[in-house]
Amino acid sequence: MQGIDSPVQDTALAWVGVRSDPTGMLIKTKSILVCAIIILSAAAFRYAAQTSGPEYTGDGQLKFPEHYREWVYLTSGFDMSYSPNAMQMGHHMFDNVFVNPEAYDAFMKTGKWPDKTTFVLEARRGLDKGSINQVGSYQSEEVMGIEAHVKDESRFAGKWAFFRFDDGKLAKMIPTSADCYSCHATRGAVDTTFVQFYPTLMPVARSKGTLSPQYKGVDRH
Ligand code: HEC
Repeated sequence: MQGIDSPVQDTALAWVGVRSDPTGMLIKTKSILVCAIIILSAAAFRYAAQTSGPEYTGDGQLKFPEHYREWVYLTSGFDMSYSPNAMQMGHHMFDNVFVNPEAYDAFMKTGKWPDKTTFVLEARRGLDKGSINQVGSYQSEEVMGIEAHVKDESRFAGKWAFFRFDDGKLAKMIPTSADCYSCHATRGAVDTTFVQFYPTLMPVARSKGTLSPQYKGVDRH
């Protein structure tokens, strides 16, 4: 680092806007900054890769979104049932709903779900007696079922599709004749999703005016 005759140093010095850097300090500082930026970008890229949209196998099966438990938590339904004479199962059930962070961020700004939105609903059994618990229910470690609801506009004719991970890591698309599609389309408050049961999202949908027309008619607010 003698003087400033190297063209590389000249360029670097011009970049930081100084004419001379006899000790080479500025160039060193700059190099450290550049390294830091590279490391941070790599970390951001890894984060994005972990949380980004749905991935499929060649034959169209959805790959299990391994990191969904690090996504945004929306709600836990407790013993929710869609039918007034639902069968008693003899035990309680919880369902926990998560959505990928990019979709959540977009929803908070617009009240709409962007392309590649992915929801995961996991079901867990309600347990009552365990450890110090005497009254009320808590969730089983064992997962009783995992379903996904994915928006992928170029892939699915109806924009959205449902999947159930019966065992393990891959799920075939549930055929559009299944009642998942009709119930979600006619009863979901926003774009086939049950935003009316996601307490932090509902006020956003209301204020952005994105409730579905049929839901707007029954919204009690
Ligand atoms: C009769 C209505 C109805 C039917 C049929 C139905 N669901 Fe749902 N679904 C709901 C309700 C209500 C919620 C909200 C759950 C909560 O608040 O915990 C929900 C939430 C979900 C979610 C969370 C994301 C979202 O869209 O809001 C997924 C995933 C899901 N259901 C998958 C399925 C699948 C897969 C099927 C078919 C096998 C299905 N559902 C059938 C009513 C229904």
